[in-house]
Amino acid sequence: MAESVTITDNRTGDSIEIPIVDGGVSAAEWKKLLGNTWFYDPAYTQTAATRSAITEIDGDAGILRYRGYPIEQLAEKSTYLEVAYLLIFGELPTTEQFETWKHEITYHTFIHENVRKRFMEGFHHDAHPMGMLVSAVAALSTFYPEAKNIFDEDVRSKQIVRLIAKMPTLAACAHRFSVGMPFVYPDNTLSFAENFLSMMWKIAEPAYKPDPALAKALDVLFILHADHELNCGTAVMRMAGSSHPDPYSATAAATAALYGPRHGGANEEVIRMLTEIGSIDNVDAFVAGVKEGKGKLMGFGHRVYKNFDPRAQIIKKIAYDVFEVTGKNPLLDLALKLEEVALADEYFISRKLYPNVDFYSGLIYQAMGFPLEMFTVLFAIPRTAGWLAHWKELLEQDQKIARPRQLYVGSPERAYVGIDAR
Ligand code: CMC
Repeated sequence: MAESVTITDNRTGDSIEIPIVDGGVSAAEWKKLLGNTWFYDPAYTQTAATRSAITEIDGDAGILRYRGYPIEQLAEKSTYLEVAYLLIFGELPTTEQFETWKHEITYHTFIHENVRKRFMEGFHHDAHPMGMLVSAVAALSTFYPEAKNIFDEDVRSKQIVRLIAKMPTLAACAHRFSVGMPFVYPDNTLSFAENFLSMMWKIAEPAYKPDPALAKALDVLFILHADHELNCGTAVMRMAGSSHPDPYSATAAATAALYGPRHGGANEEVIRMLTEIGSIDNVDAFVAGVKEGKGKLMGFGHRVYKNFDPRAQIIKKIAYDVFEVTGKNPLLDLALKLEEVALADEYFISRKLYPNVDFYSGLIYQAMGFPLEMFTVLFAIPRTAGWLAHWKELLEQDQKIARPRQLYVGSPERAYVGIDAR
């Protein structure tokens, strides 16, 4: 067999030849020789935890495709709602399918009044919108108790529509609460991105009309963030989903994972970092500090992309479209200088560290007027489509409950000692 590895158990002298299939080996094959022996891989850097037909990434070549379609083509020609359909159902919709899908999403954007009045308005005045979002998404499961019937296809589809449709409403609601502005009800005459902007910024206009260039830019940003195969948040979605809770509870878990600064929270941290650097004159000293281990260059590096992040390249172009309308973000020149210095530096070259999706997205969001605390929320809105596509796929695969092994390194057995004798 040409494509195989041979392993020998030196304790017994037994050998086994294992085929390399699709670039890897199956644990089921190793198990035939090694039985209960475990593999230690705490960050899953070498472990494929699923088979998936949703998103393909080639990190060395900088390739990202949803259901086979290159991200560059989708960003240029599609819309977020069409991409959401593609991710979830596997094919681009026909005109009729798309009209039905758009209608369904548009007519499920409202949230129950008690979600807003009793729940969202119960938070402390300075609550972080991501904390509010995580909690509100989980709370939705209590408003739709039928959602736990996850093997009923109609029920499942209904919750998918509800979640995609209600995320922008919850997100905007969190923002309005934090700035003391009244809640804005969804406007069914607007597109997905326009409606979100309306719920964010509407004041006293009878009908809010967002700038088309900004709505378009936001829609493209939603496309770029819609899925990214088995990243931390999506892995959590599948992990939580494998125990068969309702999709609101699983999505809340995934949203919580996205919150962290190593993941979706990085876009917020990039702006904080640039603000702290303050001036182009301080860039060299900042980069020197990073190389000495004083923090990370936020918005740089990726577990999978080791050449370039294709999303970052598209985003850099969108930034200029947005700045035409909003005026240039004053931090842009600083970001460009930081990128230039880092990309020419041996430390970053040798470790294959490049700007990722978060390096420029924060600059765009800031120029559009979003407060820093909303940046990760802006990531969670479109990622919901990806999470749900994975959740649906997981259930269709009928995958077993996810349950990793652990290496116990604690104390051996010892006898309980009463408190007086300690
Ligand atoms: N700045 C400086 N050094 C870095 C950075 C960085 N941003 N990222 C990685 N390194 C170094 C790291 O210290 C290590 O060096 P050494 O080999 O000397 O110990 C080497 O590069 C390899 O890094 P790693 O930590 O093993 O890489 P990882 O795959 O575990 O981490 C990452 C990936 C994205 C968590 C990490 O690159 C990072 O923390 N980046 C900054 C946060 C960020 O921008 N996150 C957004 C990721 S893209 C959007 C998303 O997925 O949500």
